[in-house]
Amino acid sequence: MTLIPELTILQAADKEHIDLPRTLEDELAIGKKRLYIESYGCQMNFADSEIVAAVMRNAGYATTSTAEDADVIFLNTCAIRDNAEQKVRHRLKHLTGLKRQKPELLVGMLGCMAERLKTKLLEEEKVVDIVAGPDAYRDIPKLVEEAESGQKAVNVFLSREETYADISPIRLNSNGVTAFVSIMRGCDNMCSFCVVPFTRGRERSRDPYSIVREAQDLFDRGYREVTLLGQNVDSYKWNDELGMMNRSADAGKLIGSQTVSSSITHHSSLSFAGLLEMVARIHPELRVRFSTSHPKDITDDVLYTMARYDNICNYIHLPAQSGNSRVLKLMNRTYDRPWYIEKINSIRRILGDDCGISTDMISGFCSETEAEHQESLTLMDFVQYDYAYMFAYSERPGTLAAKKYPDDIPEDVKKRRLSEIIARQLEHSAKRNQRHIGQVQRVLIEGPSKRSDDFLCGRNDQNKMVVFPKGDLQKGQYVNVLVTECTSATLRGDVV
Ligand code: SAH
Ligand code: SF4
Ligand code: F3S
Repeated sequence: MTLIPELTILQAADKEHIDLPRTLEDELAIGKKRLYIESYGCQMNFADSEIVAAVMRNAGYATTSTAEDADVIFLNTCAIRDNAEQKVRHRLKHLTGLKRQKPELLVGMLGCMAERLKTKLLEEEKVVDIVAGPDAYRDIPKLVEEAESGQKAVNVFLSREETYADISPIRLNSNGVTAFVSIMRGCDNMCSFCVVPFTRGRERSRDPYSIVREAQDLFDRGYREVTLLGQNVDSYKWNDELGMMNRSADAGKLIGSQTVSSSITHHSSLSFAGLLEMVARIHPELRVRFSTSHPKDITDDVLYTMARYDNICNYIHLPAQSGNSRVLKLMNRTYDRPWYIEKINSIRRILGDDCGISTDMISGFCSETEAEHQESLTLMDFVQYDYAYMFAYSERPGTLAAKKYPDDIPEDVKKRRLSEIIARQLEHSAKRNQRHIGQVQRVLIEGPSKRSDDFLCGRNDQNKMVVFPKGDLQKGQYVNVLVTECTSATLRGDVV
């Protein structure tokens, strides 16, 4: 089941693999310029910051965890809702003060807000020296040089190919146990409310061999969980006719000598189910999670792959957004309520009631009636989500909804509907957590609990945080915990 020989060959064949030192001494190297990165938004943005750190380290920068120590500060920004942008604007005000004390300090804006506002950002925020969009991160050292010479530096070109496949990310603020691995970039869905297709560009999938190699490398360094990331992981597709043919022997080797699923060997194109299986086969002790699944695309093949592997976590994030078919149509989600319910039924049929399910919900989308809002609540009642991310609709300039539909639900109505959604979810989360009481859960220890050093915490298969007494245990180990109590957020118990 080990992958090392094949991976070594693949690595050697790599075009321009950036092999970076990762020691603490290196971090502290005297005389190096220092980079501080702050990330906002989704997990993909946090993963991107680790790419940026790698690119900058290759250009001679060390990373620091304090803004005050830095020569260069990057804010990796999010544009998903207006309040995400306001948070960043607020942070820039603080940085203006810092720059006054240290005029040579460079401030860069990266990510989705940079992509959305482009040069406008330089006009609006005088403190900003560098603007780099999500596909321009290889260019960052050059942009920094330009900024050092006193010019404002901008690159917001979106690419159809860039996946940063060859760059080994520098893990920032890592617990050394869990890590994100990007498997694709961009999004080709045009949900009418969403700014992501404009800020992240066209969808493209990353070379599966570089993904497996990255996950294997993490495992070798002691990590025990990877989360495969994409805006819509179910549309992952790798068409590498030549590569897959030439490497068909590798495919066999990569996943060991067991029976190989048809999604890997019989076709020259690899689906998400096939990729998931390749990563799951790295090692039974390496847990695999993934996010986000799109209800229109998730296949039974993915669900069966999850069922076959104990180390693929029994948890699916399947954002519904609304429980009403008319609103879903306006949102351009391309599924309706019955379709969504059918997907939930498939999950329950193939993976059982034990599978954790979470969602994203939006309250007060354009023209949503009270009755339609009630349907979001009844969908939640039907599914009984373990967890939900819930938002009031925020109109984003340039999106289909901003162009076509008036943002006509008053703010106080959006907020009230949102609080009803949140209250309902709290009930469901508590109920779904209570069912674990009396059960023994396998937990991967992530580190000390937030509240007390005498306790450790880690997640169970369904992504629920479990807290238990420390004993002689260490992070990175798996333990069995008998759950004795819970809140709507956490399970508590004792190691058995
Ligand atoms: N690709 C993922 C979602 C990424 S954005 C998917 O399709 O499920 C994360 C979440 O932010 C979305 O699921 C949605 O619930 C929310 N969101 C996106 N745009 C929004 C907007 N304009 N107003 C409020 N919430 C929004
Ligand atoms: Fe946005 Fe829809 Fe793409 Fe998700 S699938 S990123 S909500 S456009
Ligand atoms: Fe935000 Fe961009 Fe992610 S808008 S949610 S950081 S893809």
